[in-house]
This record gives sequence, C-alpha cells and structure tokens, in this order.
Amino acid sequence: MDSITAATLILTLSVSSLLSTIPSLSAAPCNPQSCHAVLGPEIRFPFLLLHHQSPSCGLSGFELRCNHQNQTILTLPHSGAFVVDHIDYASQALFINDPNSCLPGRILNFSAYGSPFRGAYTRSYTFLNCSSDFMDYDPTRYTPLYCLSGRNHTVLAMRSDPVAAAPPATCRRIKSVEVPIEWELSQFEWSQMDLREDLELVWNVPLCRNCEIKGGICGLENDGEGSRVACFRRSGSGLPRSAKYGIIIGVGIPGLVCIIGLTCYACGMIRALNLRSGLNSDLPMTISDQRPVIRSVSGLDGPTIQSYPTTVLGESRRLPKPNDACCPICLSDYQPKETLRSIPECNHYFHADCIDEWLKLNGSCPLCRNSPVSSIPTPCFSLSESSSGLSPSNSDSP
Ligand SMILES: *[C@@H]1O[C@H](CO)[C@@H](O)[C@H](O)[C@H]1NC(C)=O
Ligand SMILES: *[C@@H]1O[C@H](CO)[C@@H](O)[C@H](O)[C@H]1NC(C)=O
Ligand SMILES: *[C@@H]1O[C@H](CO)[C@@H](O)[C@H](O)[C@H]1NC(C)=O
Ligand SMILES: *[C@@H]1O[C@H](CO)[C@@H](O)[C@H](O)[C@H]1NC(C)=O
Repeated sequence: MDSITAATLILTLSVSSLLSTIPSLSAAPCNPQSCHAVLGPEIRFPFLLLHHQSPSCGLSGFELRCNHQNQTILTLPHSGAFVVDHIDYASQALFINDPNSCLPGRILNFSAYGSPFRGAYTRSYTFLNCSSDFMDYDPTRYTPLYCLSGRNHTVLAMRSDPVAAAPPATCRRIKSVEVPIEWELSQFEWSQMDLREDLELVWNVPLCRNCEIKGGICGLENDGEGSRVACFRRSGSGLPRSAKYGIIIGVGIPGLVCIIGLTCYACGMIRALNLRSGLNSDLPMTISDQRPVIRSVSGLDGPTIQSYPTTVLGESRRLPKPNDACCPICLSDYQPKETLRSIPECNHYFHADCIDEWLKLNGSCPLCRNSPVSSIPTPCFSLSESSSGLSPSNSDSP
C-alpha cells in the first residue's frame, strides 16, 4: 500500500502547486455572443454584436450584426456589408466573404479605408472584360470569374505582373486591384486564386494578442478617468487554456505513473500467487489471466448518431478549426450545401453519410478517438487544396 500513499502525495502536491500558478484575473464584463450556435464565429471584444450586447462590450468600428440567415455581418464604410466567416483573436485577423456569393464583384471595388482593418497580405490582380469567343486562355494565367460574366462576355482576372505578356487584344482592361488575400495563400507565391476564397483583414489596435495567448480575453475596464483596455478571465468557461494544459500535465502524468505503478503491483501479486500455487499449475491458464482485457468497442445506435449536430455547409465552405476543407473519411472536398455532422466532444466535422456509417461500427471520432485535445492533420488530395486546405494554423502568422 506504500506505492498508493506515495502516488496520492504526488497528486496532491502537483495539484496544489498548479493552483498557485493560475493567474488571478477578474471575470470578463461581457459574455461572448454569436449569430450561429455551431458555425459562430464567437463575437467578443473588440467586436460588438449590435442589439445583443451593451455598447461598452466593444469598440467603435468593430460593430457586427446578424442577418436573417444567421450570418455575421460586418459593414465597411466604403465597401458595404460582408459575411464574417471566422475571427482569429490571437492573430487579430478576420475572414470575410460576399453574402451574395460573388466576391470578385466586391473585390473590384474593395476598400477597408475608414475601418480599423487593413489587408496584411495583398496581391495585385488585373480584371479583364473579354469577348466570349476568347476561349483559348491559359488557365494558369487567367481565372474566369463566372459571376461577373455574361452570355457575350467573360470577365477574367490575371496576376498583375510587369514582366507578363500584355493582355489579349480581344480583352478590355477593367481595373487593377490590390486583393487582401489570406496568409495561407500568400505562402504559395505562384498559386492562382479563384478569388472566391475569403479576404483576410487584420487589426492592430487594440493589441490583445498577449492576453489571448495567456488564455484571457480583453475588455473595457472603467478606472474612474475613463475606460481602458484590460485583460480578463474568460467568464463561464472556467479555467484559462494554459491552466487546462497545466492540469493535464500536472495531474495526467502523475496519474498515469500511479496507474502503471498499481498495475505492476497487481501483476506482481498475481505472479506471486501463481508461483505459490505451484509450478505444475496450468500454465496457459496463467498467461490468459495476465493478458490485458480488450474491451470490444461497439458502435453507436441510430438515435445517438442522429442526436449529433448537423450543419448545411455555406458558400464559403469555412468550418471552425481544426477542420480541413476535405472530409477525413472519404477524402473528398466539402461542397456548398452538403450536410455535415460534427462530433460534439471534439468539434470534428465529416460528411454526414460518411460519419454515420463509421459511428455504426465505432463509437468514437475517427480523427481523435473522442479526445478533444489532439488533432491529426488529414491529407487532402485535390488541387483546390493548395488554396484552401493546406492549413498551417493561422495563429502562426507573423
Ligand atoms: C437562426 O438561429 C436561431 C436560433 O439561434 C434558429 O431558431 C433559427 O432557425 C436560425 N435560422 C436560420 C435561418 O438558420
Ligand atoms: C465603388 O465604390 C464607390 C464608393 O467608394 C461607389 O461610389 C461606386 O458606385 C462603387 N462602384 C461599384 C461598381 O459598385
Ligand atoms: C463587360 O463588357 C460587356 C459588353 O461588352 C458589358 O455589358 C459588361 O457590363 C462588362 N462587364 C464589366 C464587369 O465591366
Ligand atoms: C449577345 O450577342 C447576340 C448577337 O451577337 C445578341 O443577339 C444578344 O442580344 C447578346 N446578348 C446579350 C445578353 O447582350
């Protein structure tokens, strides 16, 4: 019983040392909001969800609202309304798209001027208006923009490149524009963008990166002379992320050591008993006694599977991280309007058809076995992945 006492002591010590390192922040003054319970994005300081949060929850220029399709809408002073697909608070970036699924048309006249946002990674494109018989264009140089094209004309975009050949004579140059592309795309210098992927904008002020990395969230604090930006504990969600990792390491590892110790102790006892019962005892029987019990993992029943949330994918095909643009089961890309099902424990998404079959046979998430901590990147094989699926996490951006 000495080993058990020692293990208990280690456990107690590590928990108490851990509790003393948790920063003592006060709770955030505002609860985060969102327009869509599953797809989000989470709206919190410096953003403000109009008509849902008090004006002191966010800053001017960061106002958002929900539309009738539960999309999150940002209105830029010179470019109008955009859907916000994702907000990365740690890298202070937001990802926007056109609510009417014709982003090229919005890019043609895009400006973040007058807002707190700017494009961090821009790429210059020239838009061309060509007669429809201009069909032999080089797809590596020209991207057709179908939503701007008509029966008698095709609108194309090409990278503005001073050394490139002049545009074909049958085309009229419309405009050259600086497109605020996503950081992920900017890593592939010669990638051709279809100009339907989200635009990425960043904000520099207020600077909350350090607070976010510590697991806190920013908010306004009134100190008598006026309000200033301060770092708070996330209200409701309990411990900050760093503390959760601390607990996993502080409790998990000694716990594991303890379990291993107990198992060895039990094994030793069994072996000793077997030795004592004589060498002529039934040896195969002894071996099967020591074999670890393999629990048969059975699948889930229909009602349980049906109770997992489903989502109909929107035009932008954006899913909450850490999901890829393709289904990890069938390795085919998600398409707009497809029905996806997510595993509540870990928020991994799959085609509903694919995951239903899997869950009938296996009761756990195929990516992480239900563990919400780990996430295994999946290989995506289609070409479009070069622009959307190869996802070095955005929080890595400088
Ligand atoms: C929007 O969300 C509300 C609840 O949050 C839900 O009742 C409503 O059906 C949703 N509307 C759409 C169009 O998804
Ligand atoms: C482009 O934006 C300007 C305002 O910045 C507006 O006056 C103009 O009508 C817009 N053009 C188009 C084609 O939307
Ligand atoms: C392209 O040209 C056609 C006429 O040739 C015109 O009707 C159309 O509006 C133009 N499109 C753009 C985006 O300029
Ligand atoms: C396209 O061109 C044809 C003949 O050149 C003309 O009859 C037709 O009206 C044009 N369509 C549009 C949408 O401009």
